[in-house]
Amino acid sequence: MSRRYVPLSLVVLAAALLLSSAVFAQQAAPARGGGAPAPAPQNLQVLPKDMTPAQVLQVMQNIAQGLGVQCGYCHVQNAAPEGPGRGDAPAGGRGGRGGPPPFDFVSDDKPQKKAAREMMLLVRDINPRVAAAVGKSAEAATRVGCVTCHRGVAIPKQLADILDQTTLEKGLPAAIPQYRNLQKQYFGSQAYDFSEGSLVALAQRATQANKPDDAIAWLQANLENFPLSSRTYAGLSQAQQRKNDKDGAVKSLEKAVELDPQNAQLKRQLDQLKGP
Ligand code: HEC
Ligand code: HEC
Repeated sequence: MSRRYVPLSLVVLAAALLLSSAVFAQQAAPARGGGAPAPAPQNLQVLPKDMTPAQVLQVMQNIAQGLGVQCGYCHVQNAAPEGPGRGDAPAGGRGGRGGPPPFDFVSDDKPQKKAAREMMLLVRDINPRVAAAVGKSAEAATRVGCVTCHRGVAIPKQLADILDQTTLEKGLPAAIPQYRNLQKQYFGSQAYDFSEGSLVALAQRATQANKPDDAIAWLQANLENFPLSSRTYAGLSQAQQRKNDKDGAVKSLEKAVELDPQNAQLKRQLDQLKGP
């Protein structure tokens, strides 16, 4: 069993990481500059040691994409020129044959590279367990890769958690612009959930933590993007009830019912709220 397990999981890891080979071909070449043949890998501890340079680069390109970063996020970039034909341009400059300064891919100096290696091990462990959990073969089961968790960002976190943390540390006046900036930067990518529910969930947490004013600010921000969101008005009503603003709470709930007339639960809540 354990004999089969290791090679199989390696194959699965390699396969999961090798998916975006076409994109790699266009992007990885300039990273090496020059056009000199890539040296054989010297410091592979997780990937199969007999991988060709081209295969390693495919894996790397896929990892970089999954995290939304460049090679230099994990690899030391030499500032100084080194060797003929490489790095004869100043850092960040162009010209010569060198292009950008070369990387020291062998070095393990960057903590991000070490973290990435651990993550590669984690991915290798997860996949057979996922397959076993759902009773499928390794080929049939959905493969977990870096992007499954990372979704194009280096530190994957839920939008509501990021905003919650900023609110705690710096207050609402910092958190709301952060929301708008993240939306500008990432809208349409898979990095964060900018659908109607994210800020509603965040507001619910705030109301439960007895911070109805925070909740109201988040819900009002949500209405700018989703002016017809019944859930947002229902959340507003809850926050207003927490503030003992009964008139406001009734108005918000009426609006929620108006926007979602089929919702029997909202109607019941409205009847209760209006009742004696
Ligand atoms: C998220 C971190 C991360 C990013 C981004 C990344 N790498 Fe890597 N790279 C690693 C890790 C970890 C290893 C070692 C893998 C192992 O131990 O099996 C590695 C190994 C390599 C190696 C083999 C070095 C050797 O000789 O042992 C090369 C070449 C390489 N990467 C190139 C690249 C290129 C080119 C890019 C950009 C397209 C890139 N990497 C982006 C983490 C990263
Ligand atoms: C099961 C989910 C999961 C998978 C799969 C996963 N990661 Fe991560 N990774 C995380 C989380 C969560 C963090 C952030 C931890 C924190 O800082 O709070 C993280 C952090 C990292 C970091 C550190 C980033 C930084 O700037 O501190 C690197 C590098 C990284 N992952 C690389 C990878 C690579 C490469 C893969 C694929 C081989 C991968 N991860 C797969 C969940 C995952």
